[in-house]
Amino acid sequence: MATGPDCQYVTLLILLHSLTSESAKFDVLGPTEPIVAVTGDDIILPCYLKPNISVEDMTVDWLNLDFIDEHVYRYQNGRIIQEDQIPSYKGRTSLFKEELWRGNTSLKLTRVQGTDEGLYECLIKSQRWYEYVQIQVHVKAVGSRPVVSIEGHREGGMGLVCQSEGWHPEPDLVWLDSKGVSLSAGPPETHRDIKGFYTVKKHVIVQETDTNLFTCRVQQRRINEEVETEVHIPSELFDYTTPWRWSFIVSWSLGVITVIGLPLAVYWIHKKKAYLWTRNDRTDDLPDLG
Ligand SMILES: *[C@@H]1O[C@H](CO)[C@@H](O)[C@H](O)[C@H]1NC(C)=O
Ligand SMILES: *[C@@H]1O[C@H](CO)[C@@H](O)[C@H](O)[C@H]1NC(C)=O
Repeated sequence: MATGPDCQYVTLLILLHSLTSESAKFDVLGPTEPIVAVTGDDIILPCYLKPNISVEDMTVDWLNLDFIDEHVYRYQNGRIIQEDQIPSYKGRTSLFKEELWRGNTSLKLTRVQGTDEGLYECLIKSQRWYEYVQIQVHVKAVGSRPVVSIEGHREGGMGLVCQSEGWHPEPDLVWLDSKGVSLSAGPPETHRDIKGFYTVKKHVIVQETDTNLFTCRVQQRRINEEVETEVHIPSELFDYTTPWRWSFIVSWSLGVITVIGLPLAVYWIHKKKAYLWTRNDRTDDLPDLG
């Protein structure tokens, strides 16, 4: 018999199977625009299923594609999987547990740092299906106001050095004269710390001018930010007849403070110099750093 109960049973099975595999499919959606985060902030990386079915028995993987074989966050069989989590994300990531039953797998990332920048992937796997969405995250941080230090007489001029910390992305540092003309300076020295922030530093040798005003400007055009410090170097310091028996460092954080602070600094330096000379005369063991 060709149309017996067996045959109907098989038809039913096929029908059921195609129904379940249809309903097992889902899309994974996220933001279309990149996310821009400011360091220190807490952010949400949106990701959710369509239709809004529960992911409680699925695997949710959040990845930063700069890292291979490690994840930002993994949720599997109702548990958070700690193994192979990228160390810099430890203690800073979570899902919204009360949202999982309706397919919302958005990631909460706290205390954003420079190393969080990158292309993320929200990958969701069920028994029969998987789908993902990718999200670009940019991190921005404005660094500290530049700190300028005087290094002393160098190659026929006065050596200055400027430093600014805590930037993201990497900024540019320029030395300018009082007319805003860029001075030729040494190569930039850039350092990236473990949290992904940049410190920049640049040496310059300046000659005496009418104003003796010099500006160190640190700028990051992509995030449209700049900070600067103006310093005034008193002409006495350019005087070659003054022996530089040691190298000294005077720092200012503000141009305004510079104006008030310099006479004090000069006074302090002269006092200190007198002290060192007497000390030197007595012990003669002071290294010549000048
Ligand atoms: C799931 O989506 C449907 C239609 O898109 C909506 O009516 C329903 O409220 C949503 N359910 C939840 C739990 O968000
Ligand atoms: C997912 O949950 C987060 C946190 O509650 C919420 O901000 C976001 O709007 C939710 N997304 C959707 C699509 O429901």
